[in-house]
Amino acid sequence: MPDRVKIFEVGPRDGLQNQKRIIPTEDKIKLVDMLSNCGFSHIETTSFVSPKWVPQMADASAVMAGISKKHGTAYTALTPNMRGYEAAIAAGVDEVAIFGSASEGFSQKNINCSIEDSFTRFISLLDQAKIDKCKVRGYISCVTHCPYDGSIDPEQVIKVALRLLDMGCYEISLGDTVGAATTETTHNLISSMLNYMPESVIAGHFHDTNNTALENIGVCLEAGIRTFDSATGGLGGCPYAKGAKGNVDTVSVVKMLHEMKFETGLNVEELNKASAFAKSLSEN
Ligand code: HMG
Ligand code: MG
Repeated sequence: MPDRVKIFEVGPRDGLQNQKRIIPTEDKIKLVDMLSNCGFSHIETTSFVSPKWVPQMADASAVMAGISKKHGTAYTALTPNMRGYEAAIAAGVDEVAIFGSASEGFSQKNINCSIEDSFTRFISLLDQAKIDKCKVRGYISCVTHCPYDGSIDPEQVIKVALRLLDMGCYEISLGDTVGAATTETTHNLISSMLNYMPESVIAGHFHDTNNTALENIGVCLEAGIRTFDSATGGLGGCPYAKGAKGNVDTVSVVKMLHEMKFETGLNVEELNKASAFAKSLSEN
């Protein structure tokens, strides 16, 4: 049996959130529907954040209302607080994600609070999610490098990860937010984390600023990690991490994985069509 890798498609959210032009809602819906034909188990469809902070995601509820959901795919969204969580549940998301940071500097810039205060917000959200039986994923940004605080010690990431797991997150996605991770820093981080948690709860989320994302995924694969986030078309970036390029392109990740004989369950032909459309959205 070939080894299976799960690709968590984040293009409609991370890929689009930082586009300069406001993308029409119908184009976002079309992208999600095209991605639904590819066979993803998870599509991060939008985020329920403050429209003052991220205007591009202001149409989150309309996007959710317009997509044609496919059986077998979970349509997920970012939710920074209870307000976002309640809106996401009302809009029919299947799963939500909270997003914290390993660095104080990025936590303040991205969600306007300290790491400690972010946990207070997350606790009430996770308590409600337990009642609703809604799965919650936890992101940690700046896992090796922060644009404000510099290099990040693995211990800082481990501390946040253990608290998120303890609160009830089923998986921790490690965000190389600015794409500064190297094979060395990635190896150092993952090997340290595996002293505290199994590889099955860890996902890699690499931005490809320095074209090192695929190598870093290779390091994670060797360590036994089997879940990776990527964006079809390689779009993306965070408005609060200037200079960061897009997420690693799903097409490139899948090509590499298939060459390595990993199974992804994804339809490459449909993926190429979605990729062309995603790229056209960022070019227009
Ligand atoms: P705040 O300004 O501190 O909070 O923002 P607030 O409670 O004072 O609210 C300010 C205004 O926003 C109020 O409106 C609220 O009602 C409204 P006003 O009264 O002024 O008219 N508001 C909301 N509106 C809609 N939905 C909501 C919501 N919450 C408040 N959920 C907050 C705090 C967390 C809301 C804000 O900082 C925020 O939305 N940040 C999100 C930033 C973001 O989306 N960043 C990109 C995603 S993270 C990322 O890309 C990294 C990742 O990819 C991993 C990686 O690469 O590392 C995940
Ligand atoms: Mg990201």
